[in-house]
Amino acid sequence: MAKIAVLGYGTVGSGVVEVLATNSESITKRAGDVVEVKSVLDLRDFPGDPIQDKIVHDIDVIINDPEIDVVVEVMGGVEPAFTFVKKALEAGKSVCTSNKALVAAHGSELLAMAKERKLNFMFEASVGGGIPIIRPLNQSLTADEITQITGILNGTTNYILTKMSREGSSYEEVLKEAQALGYAERNPEADVEGFDACRKIAILTSLAFGSTVKFEEITTEGITKISTEDFAYAEQLGCVVKLLATSKKVDNKVYAITAPFMIDNTHPLYNVNDVLNGIYINGNVIGDVMFFGAGAGKLPTASAVVADVVDCVKHKGKNVMTIWSSEKLELGNTDDMKRDFFVRVKGNDTSAVKAAFGNVATITIPGVEDEFGFVTGMLTEKEFNEKAEDLEVINRIRRDHTKL
Ligand code: HSE
Repeated sequence: MAKIAVLGYGTVGSGVVEVLATNSESITKRAGDVVEVKSVLDLRDFPGDPIQDKIVHDIDVIINDPEIDVVVEVMGGVEPAFTFVKKALEAGKSVCTSNKALVAAHGSELLAMAKERKLNFMFEASVGGGIPIIRPLNQSLTADEITQITGILNGTTNYILTKMSREGSSYEEVLKEAQALGYAERNPEADVEGFDACRKIAILTSLAFGSTVKFEEITTEGITKISTEDFAYAEQLGCVVKLLATSKKVDNKVYAITAPFMIDNTHPLYNVNDVLNGIYINGNVIGDVMFFGAGAGKLPTASAVVADVVDCVKHKGKNVMTIWSSEKLELGNTDDMKRDFFVRVKGNDTSAVKAAFGNVATITIPGVEDEFGFVTGMLTEKEFNEKAEDLEVINRIRRDHTKL
């Protein structure tokens, strides 16, 4: 019997218990052993719940229990999760987590601790919820040199942008609706400002390129400035606006950014809508691969966590996770990235725009007065900023032309 402990009996924690109960027979076969939840750490009690007798309030009860082989950390946040995970690894227990904040901040250190002790630190659920993406990067794509990862990695913002695009509703209206449906938090900052997607692309990039990407160094812009007018222009251009989190290797430098991008219907992520996530990867030998599915939610996320538990049980005494080194990956400067931009400018006089950007075609939207839009040619962000300096720019949205 393999005994595990679950830290945090919230949405994902209760999902883990549910998945283990629902699929106990097949999980036993695949793990080669019965997997049993022995303890659940939470501040609260859960009278009447099947796990009521397993609740403990002191982490040391779990740490000091020699029967527990695997600890599932689904509390979220960096602390106390980091302290608890370190204690678990020091006590000889493998750890599975869904906590992207923890992995983005301390992934390399925790991977090294696990490796030294012939344990595993697994985090499939930290990116893309139920979508297998960490394991493919860790196992299936290891023959490749990754050249690009581009993802829609945040379901909340994808839901908001999809609704704005389809219904012409404002950001504020759709955010309220998303909050009422439980898709967006009451404080939506982590999602709408792009911080959640930024941490996820930091994890994928660190894993793909083998050294630590500091998420604080990734240029990150959220969706709060995207308006109904932006979508009206996007529609005229045959495009939608998506929050992309992307890293690309260009001339041996890795460039990473999380920001809204305008993409057309030839882009692999054009049809990834609502709360779904999609991840496009290009490798130098495999070419293009796509991953698509439920990027969040109780059972999809718990499914990924339990798959990690099965892996830990199967590989007891053997480290199977690829390590990414603690050495820092120096990202290329976003200013040097070449791309084109959609720009909205105040007024009706196109001469300053044409003087700065050449003879670009201008676009207007019926009913939207005193402004026009245009698309630049290819130029670096630095060049764009210099050319746009004297224009009254209402908004500018980067464009991405990834194709399958
Ligand atoms: N808030 C996240 C999202 C949850 O909307 O994608 C999954 O990490």
